[in-house]
Formats: sequence, structure tokens, C-alpha cells
Amino acid sequence: MDVSLSSLPMTDIDADALVVPVHTDAPAPDWAAEALASARFTAEPDTELLVPGLLDRPALFMGLGRSTEADANALRRAAARAVRRLADFPTVALGLAEGHPQGSEAAAAVAEGAVLGAYRYDGLRPPKPAVRSVTVVGPTEAKDAIRAAVITAECVNWARDLGNTPAGRLTPAALAQEATTAAAEHGLKVRVLTKKALRAGGYGGILGVGGGSDNPPRLIEVRYAGTNGRTVGLVGKGITFDAGGLGIKSGHGMADMRSDMCGGAAMLATAIAAARLGLPTGVVAVVPAAENLPSGSAYKPGDVLKHRNGKSSEITDTDAEGRVVLADALAHTVELDPELVIDAATLTYAVMHALGDEITGILGNDRELVAGLVATGEECGEPAWELPLYRGYARNIASPVATVRNDGGSEHADAIHAALFLEEFTGDVPWAHLDIAGTAFHTKSGDLHPAGATGTGIRTLVRYLSRL
Ligand code: BES
Ligand code: ZN
Ligand code: ZN
Repeated sequence: MDVSLSSLPMTDIDADALVVPVHTDAPAPDWAAEALASARFTAEPDTELLVPGLLDRPALFMGLGRSTEADANALRRAAARAVRRLADFPTVALGLAEGHPQGSEAAAAVAEGAVLGAYRYDGLRPPKPAVRSVTVVGPTEAKDAIRAAVITAECVNWARDLGNTPAGRLTPAALAQEATTAAAEHGLKVRVLTKKALRAGGYGGILGVGGGSDNPPRLIEVRYAGTNGRTVGLVGKGITFDAGGLGIKSGHGMADMRSDMCGGAAMLATAIAAARLGLPTGVVAVVPAAENLPSGSAYKPGDVLKHRNGKSSEITDTDAEGRVVLADALAHTVELDPELVIDAATLTYAVMHALGDEITGILGNDRELVAGLVATGEECGEPAWELPLYRGYARNIASPVATVRNDGGSEHADAIHAALFLEEFTGDVPWAHLDIAGTAFHTKSGDLHPAGATGTGIRTLVRYLSRL
């Protein structure tokens, strides 16, 4: 989608439809006041009014509630809903709300909402109509903020495409290919380890989990150098399909498991966004990609796997495969000496039970890092909540034959078990883990996305990195 900025009055802009956010306690624009009054539109939150022929073209008014209560998140969501509603109009002008700060942050939120809201995944069907070009009506100084918001949202949409692509098409090799193509386009370095290199390098976790499939695993590494000599490691779970392995899931439980690579897609997308934005801090994104399938060559309960850093895991549940591949990927990443490492993974049902589908679970061993991610997530409308990395539960993942076992047996708190397992592979590097099992893929549409992959995490991480 094409996004431009104009500081002309809204009514002078050449567009097929207009979008006007309105607060309950601020005046509507003069040209709209009469129409809003006669329709009794009060601008309560989440309400909207489409006036078909105001000034010869449709105008969509979006209610934002009281100006003191609405923030950039409300504006972003309203813009996203508006472009979806106006999908039949190729060009749309979106304004800011009277009574709301008119600065760059608001304009960027509108631009970001428009690009996110226009996203669709049509698969093999002919594309449905969508808004092709938007003009944000805002102050000239918002130019750079809008550009950054648009780039970030495009990267979110790229990750969404990967999450929505059927697993039959997005194999580990195909994911590596997508990463390679995107990295080449934007000047990042890529390294892909195939089975032979994984064997030589001692990546027993990735090989074990990937062993059950005819589509062999990969380790994907994408690097953006940055300009200040600092590097952050981003590790994302890249299970392109999770059938559960020999401990096979039910049909229902397996239905959306093409989404089990959304953490990996998020980290690749964040690295690409960092490069496109030219952020000072460098990024290395590492994605262990594998299919977790049952077969004659699948890894088995009772197997003991040796990981990249020499530690080992006892496989007590083949469906707890995410932590097993992440173990190797984390060990690989800390060898590259990043100043901190963040991982994102669709890891546990437990986090969905605890926090539902709109709040990401976060655990880690560095207070400042965890608090920073939570605060940044709140700012950009991606809420995260910290769960305790309670070391008392380490006994639940103790193994008689390996460093750790890969499930907590009959004990609950699996989001914590998974994080404790991962921490074994992070060396001395400050680390935070995002469990996005609930937030990565939604069966229903939300304000910012249609049903399917949400692209969660990217906006938070890009913003976090841009402030380092
Ligand atoms: N990929 C799943 C977790 C998941 C569930 C992601 C729902 C997205 C939506 C993961 O590999 C898994 O199966 N986890 C198990 C681990 C358990 C067997 C220890 C779980 O959480 O039940
Ligand atoms: Zn699983
Ligand atoms: Zn999984």
C-alpha cells in the first residue's frame, strides 16, 4: 500500500473516501457537524458512522470516546478498521482527531493502522479489493515517523503471510528461501545450515525434532550489522508444522499448527525492519526450522539428545518440541556474543490458559530487559505480562539421564517449565522469552488483523531496538 502525508485541509484532498476520527468531547469538523448531529453520532468508543455522499464522497466517522482516554492505540485501531470497511475505495484520506495531540505519534499510528488493517491473505483465491493508497492528513514533521511506521507494518504483514501460508508450501527449506530472498532485497547477510552442517555442528535438538519428516530441518541466521557496534540476538521458534510428533495431537489441536513458526517469522521480520530503518543497533535473528511429524524416523519418548552447547535433554513428550529446537538455536546465538538475547515462540497452551489470546507471556532473567519489553508492548498495543521464572520448579524438569527433561511431567505451570528449560541454553547473556502461543494466531479477526497470523511481537521489538 502506498502511504503519503499531506497537511492540506482534509476536504481538499483528492481521495475516494475520507476517514475522520472523532472524540465525544471535541468538536467535529465544521463541514461534518450537521451530518453527525442529524445522525445522532456521539463518537462513543468503537462506534462508526458512514455518511455516503458528504462533499460528493463517502466519509467514515470513527468514534474514539473521550479525548483524555483515547491514545495512539485507539487511533491505530480505528484507522485499521476504517480501511477494512472502505476496502472498495482505492484511495482514502485519513485524518487525525480534533482534541487529540496532532503530532508525529498520532500520524504514525494512523499510517501503521492503515497498513496493518488493509492486510489480507487470499491464498489461491483471486485477491479481493483493498485500499491501495492512503493519505494521512497530519503535520509535515510526521514524515519520518510515518515512514518508520509503514516499514514496520510492512514487515508485520510479511510475517503474517508466512504464518498464514499452508505448511505444505512453507517447509523449513521454503522458510529459509523466503528469509534469503527478503534478506538479499534489503542487504542483510544470511547463513542457512542444512542437515549436514547441523550434524557436524552438534545441533542434536533440531535434528531430533526434524528427523520425523521428509522435509529436512534448517537453521536460519539473518544478520543486520547496525552502525554502533552493538548486537542483539533474536531467536524465534520455526516449527513449520507441529503434528505433535509420535505423541500426535488430535485433529482439532493440530488444525492451525502451520502457525508454529510465527516466532521465527517475527524475528526475521524484526531483523529486516531494523535493516530497512537503518537502526544503530545490529541484529542477528536465528530460526531453527523443522517439521514435528510422526514417522519411522521420528524422535521418540525416552530419547536423549545432545545440544549445541554440550548440554542434553531427555525427551519425555515429543509435542514439547519447541524448546528442544530453541535450545540449539539459543546456544548458537550466544556463541555470536550478543549483548542480550530475546526469543519468541508459540510454546505452550499454559500461557493461553493464563493470559488468553491478547496478552503475550514474558519470562526472563534480566529485570531491565523484561520491564522494557512490557512497557514498550503497552505503548504499541501489544500487551505482555510477566510470569515468574520460578526456580523452585526446576525440579520438575530435572532428568536422571540428561541436563533437563523436556516437559514437567504431571506438574502444571508449563510456561515456566519451558522457560526454565530454555534458560539452560542462554549462557551468561541477559535473556527474555516471549511465549506467543496465544497471541500469534487468532481464529477470529481483530481490529488490526483478519483471522489468522497476527504478526505479534514485531512492533514491540522494533521499537525496543530503536531505543537501544
Ligand atoms: N506448538 C505447541 C503450543 C501451541 C499451542 C501453540 C496452541 C499455539 C497454539 C507446542 O509445541 C506444544 O504442543 N506444547 C505442549 C507442551 C507440553 C506437551 C509439555 C503444550 O503446551 O501442551
Ligand atoms: Zn508441540
Ligand atoms: Zn509447537
